[in-house]
Amino acid sequence: MKVTVVGAGAVGASCAEYIAMKDFASEVVLLDIKEGYAEGKAMDLMQTASLNGFDTKITGSTNDYSKTADSDIAVITSGIPRKPGMTREELIGINAGIVKTVSQNLLEHSPNVILIVVSNPMDTMTYLVHKTTNLAKNKIIGMGGALDSARFKYRLAEALGAPISDVDGMVIGGHSDKGMVPLINHAARNSVKVSEFLSEERMQQVVEDTKVGGATLTKLLGTSAWYAPGAAVSGLVQAIACDQKKVFPCSTYLEGEYGLNDICIGVPVVLGKNGIEKIVDIDLSDSEKAKMQESAAGVSKTNTLLEL
Ligand SMILES: NC(=O)c1ccc[n+]([C@@H]2O[C@H](COP(=O)([O-])OP(=O)(O)OC[C@H]3O[C@@H](n4cnc5c(N)ncnc54)[C@H](O)[C@@H]3O)[C@@H](O)[C@H]2O)c1
Repeated sequence: MKVTVVGAGAVGASCAEYIAMKDFASEVVLLDIKEGYAEGKAMDLMQTASLNGFDTKITGSTNDYSKTADSDIAVITSGIPRKPGMTREELIGINAGIVKTVSQNLLEHSPNVILIVVSNPMDTMTYLVHKTTNLAKNKIIGMGGALDSARFKYRLAEALGAPISDVDGMVIGGHSDKGMVPLINHAARNSVKVSEFLSEERMQQVVEDTKVGGATLTKLLGTSAWYAPGAAVSGLVQAIACDQKKVFPCSTYLEGEYGLNDICIGVPVVLGKNGIEKIVDIDLSDSEKAKMQESAAGVSKTNTLLEL
């Protein structure tokens, strides 16, 4: 199992570290455009191998895609992150050009690769990859919902005063402050609906805190977060690499599912060795359906900014 991670910055390096720590891949290649940067990060990470007990080989490359040849999975984290006060959508001008070039370079050397898109605005970048490559739609996966759901579970556990392992919840919709749809009425504490424990007001607070989860961290850190994003990506990579058939909300190209067409947006999918093996069409309430439509309208509006 060979995994390439493009962009050896905060998210890319964190993602490579979590993949290595889980020790399921034989090789991870980090690639960055900055001279020597990926090689340095790879060497530093390799020097944790004996300390952390993994055998995954991590190598670095400065923009040499021949080193990524025959990758099974590639993760695209290259591009600029947002600064405090910025929206993810504002990154489109720079990141669209980077994501388009990077995906084409990856496919030239690994025609059978499964691509995981992380760069923001992620749903629109996933759509861009769909429109500008010939890759089958099951092999183009946008990561956002896995992270947003982890943030949702963090906020739910906080509100419930419960351990996170007792909490289940999912966020679908667009990966943006306004577009996220945390499914609060489906959230549960060990199979008991959270509405049994929390007031309507407290549940709405959890929803609002989840939606601004990334912005809250960007304000605190001065740039966007990396530990949870890296861990979320590594979860998707592992589900594919180990054919786990796990359900995650991922951005995928929709053709009628959820009443949506010609858009990449977060919905629950089954991830296995073929990438997206099934889109899970869950029953939504009228209000959840309306929020999903509103979210899709926002993503479609950002998509119109692409020069396709
Ligand atoms: N989808 C999500 O849930 C999620 C979560 C966090 C961050 N992000 C996004 O991920 C991206 C990366 O964030 P970060 O914090 O790691 O940023 P960062 O600045 O730390 O790292 C980005 C790296 O990309 C490299 N890069 C730029 N152009 C490149 C190119 N053409 N080829 C190869 N490498 C190139 C840069 O040199 C840099 O090292 C941002 O767009 C950010 O908004 C998405």
